[in-house]
Amino acid sequence: MSSYIVATSGLTQSEGVHLVYLVASVLFILGLKQLSSPKGARKGNITAAVGMIIALITGLIGLHPSSGRVILMVVGVVIGLLVGTLSARKVKMTAMPQMVAAFNGVGGGAAALVSVEEYMRLVAHSSQGVVFVITVVFSVVVGCISFAGSVIAFTKLQEWMTGRPITYPGQQAVNGVIVVAILAIGIYLVGFGTSVALVVILLAIALFLGVAFVLPIGGADMPVVISMLNAFTGLAVAATGFVLGNTVLIVGGTLVGASGTLLTKMMGDSMGRSLGNVLFAAVGKAAPGAGASAAGSAEGRSVRSGTSDDIGVMLAYSQKVIIVPGYGLAVAQAQHVAKELASALEKRGVDVAYAIHPVAGRMPGHMNVLLAEADVPYEQLKEMDEINDQFKLADAVLIVGANDVVNPAARSDASSPIYGMPILNADEAKNIIFMKRSMRPGFAGVDNELMFDPKTIMLFGDAKDSLTKLVASVKAA
Ligand code: TAP
Repeated sequence: MSSYIVATSGLTQSEGVHLVYLVASVLFILGLKQLSSPKGARKGNITAAVGMIIALITGLIGLHPSSGRVILMVVGVVIGLLVGTLSARKVKMTAMPQMVAAFNGVGGGAAALVSVEEYMRLVAHSSQGVVFVITVVFSVVVGCISFAGSVIAFTKLQEWMTGRPITYPGQQAVNGVIVVAILAIGIYLVGFGTSVALVVILLAIALFLGVAFVLPIGGADMPVVISMLNAFTGLAVAATGFVLGNTVLIVGGTLVGASGTLLTKMMGDSMGRSLGNVLFAAVGKAAPGAGASAAGSAEGRSVRSGTSDDIGVMLAYSQKVIIVPGYGLAVAQAQHVAKELASALEKRGVDVAYAIHPVAGRMPGHMNVLLAEADVPYEQLKEMDEINDQFKLADAVLIVGANDVVNPAARSDASSPIYGMPILNADEAKNIIFMKRSMRPGFAGVDNELMFDPKTIMLFGDAKDSLTKLVASVKAA
């Protein structure tokens, strides 16, 4: 494309490349804009992918044919395409956060390695300006933290290591010393001397910091950490763009950095937690005796459980039913049968809506993606602020594999780890149907008083099985 533009427009090769990169950058921005609504999300992915293909081809064409790098890059592109396509097709929806962590991590690592390579290449010929060295140092440090941190996040989420925070006395002080070492090496490289060896040492220490930084964070907070590391990768890539003088990397990296930062903040706000609390409070660490008392308090009390037949009849004769989907819906892959139940109720004239908590499930937009897959109309998906006033008008709320997002402890128990998290007002509905397999707590590991509410009926079992039985009993009612 760039060669065609050069041949027909009278622009220089470099101007042609910049123009094509501008087109790719605009496609990234349009893609991001389309991704902001579920309706446009599929188109947004395609638009951004077209931008990426244009940028890739332009990058390949821009290489000197004799440099030997073309073959290397083509091999890299083919391997990347194969790995990306296979994993996107095979990965289960519940394992999506790990996949994002893995892809994000390699982006950060690649940005760091490219900067090191460029530093080695250029300082061998001449001394480089301060801005060049600052961007190399930034890209190496931030890219390596992102890579190593993402590897730990992946390992925790994949349950290859404990998801609990790993802490030891003086941990923050040790991390502080590592940060000081990084700063000292960075300042030396920028202000005092050129040293490839020091850049490599910087790379190793930053990798260590990435590991040390994520180890004390609990598995429950990993999606927030992944989003933050995603922002880090974006910034590292943008810095590498400055190192290489590549505008599409600068624009693409900045977009990832900005959107990752906003997403991190929004996730923290939705969980009622500050970023500092997520990163440094080691939430999820087992307090001595905490597990036993939590289990005991649930086990020692009785709950009211019901049958799918009774609940089906109650739903069938309701006027308004609100479905609250959660992580268990994703685990059970119950989205299609949830839609089937909603359709059966609507056929009987019941008003059905889905209440979507911003952090229901394990990744941003998790419930929206699942329910869109089952062709649930977007108009029925109501965000928390939009639907919270409606619960008091609902004859029944059907909590399908959700737990923390309806836990009233978030409002009332200042000692609870989820205190302050905005929740769905499921407790205000006239009847509460809680669908889960056991009395076990949700992700945050805290008991839920709502299960003991006199208005609550527990429907124990796998969400898909229970919903299937409910569909049958609604149809028979
Ligand atoms: P959770 O509080 O994790 O509860 C899920 C419930 O689903 C569990 O209590 C589990 O109980 C039940 N369950 C699991 N498998 C099931 C199955 N096959 N059938 C029926 N039930 C099943 O989920 P939530 O309410 O969606 O809350 C999300 C949590 O993740 C919040 O704490 C949130 O802060 C955290 N988090 C979310 C995100 C994002 S971005 N979504 C990011 C970070 C953290 P049983 O084992 O008894 O069945």
